[in-house]
Amino acid sequence: MQVFLTVRELSMFLDILLKAKKKIGFVPTMGALHPGHLSLIKKSAEENDITVCSIFVNPTQFNNSSDLANYPRAIESDTAMLKVVACDVLFAPSIEEIYRQGEVNSTPSIDFQGIEVVMEGVYRKEHFKGVVQVVKRLFDIVRPTNAYFGEKDYQQLVVIKKMVKSLKLPISIIGCYIVREVDGLAMSSRNVRLSNEGRKNAGFIYKTLLVAKQNAHKASVSDLKKWVTDVLNANEYFRVEYVEIADSTTLLSTHEWQQSSSQRLFVAVFVDEIRLIDNIVL
Ligand code: PAF
Repeated sequence: MQVFLTVRELSMFLDILLKAKKKIGFVPTMGALHPGHLSLIKKSAEENDITVCSIFVNPTQFNNSSDLANYPRAIESDTAMLKVVACDVLFAPSIEEIYRQGEVNSTPSIDFQGIEVVMEGVYRKEHFKGVVQVVKRLFDIVRPTNAYFGEKDYQQLVVIKKMVKSLKLPISIIGCYIVREVDGLAMSSRNVRLSNEGRKNAGFIYKTLLVAKQNAHKASVSDLKKWVTDVLNANEYFRVEYVEIADSTTLLSTHEWQQSSSQRLFVAVFVDEIRLIDNIVL
């Protein structure tokens, strides 16, 4: 695996591949890799000539400085894992490298039609502005054919698809299924910060989503949201931030069940003060 720390060196390397019309698959990450990330790398390796993984903890998408400071960093074990799954290129730039003068304000102005201000957008102000800023910058550097994102961050996936469409970027955005622990907990870099008790309880989030899925279309949308909120809040380790049922494409809040489109249930829950998100198609 080739490791690049600078934009200049990575660009020179990729220029040659792009001239040779090679398909580049890209998996952007913030590191602290887990099997969910590795599944994206494997999928990219199957579908492209070369796979680039970036590890960059992007400060502009954190609305809370202690969350940024405590975000797990594990570059050595990450590098070892990437070698095991035969990733071709690791790009691990510094903050200065990504936000060089002149690049900082280059966030594209896009009409997201409200998808960036619901759910995560309500509770993590400016979060998607930072995500769009860094993903656009990384896309400009890597120039991928295909880019891979997990459905755990489903709203992020929809926002990025919208950005690519709106800017007419020649990149296919590929959403990949959530990889879960044996007890159903969605894999996340934040899971390592859970206490033992928090971790033991955290699988209950997905179990609740599964029961809600069975009851979708039977109960009313508002009753189902209330049931999920109450059941999760009844766990002494949990504090629900939001429960939402929304259209899978527009992310507009659902008030009545629709047969003609797909709806998803989204939750954000603090488990022992660690904020976890999850979602399920209903
Ligand atoms: O999902 C993530 O890990 C991040 O939001 C991303 C897409 C790498 C941008 O920093």
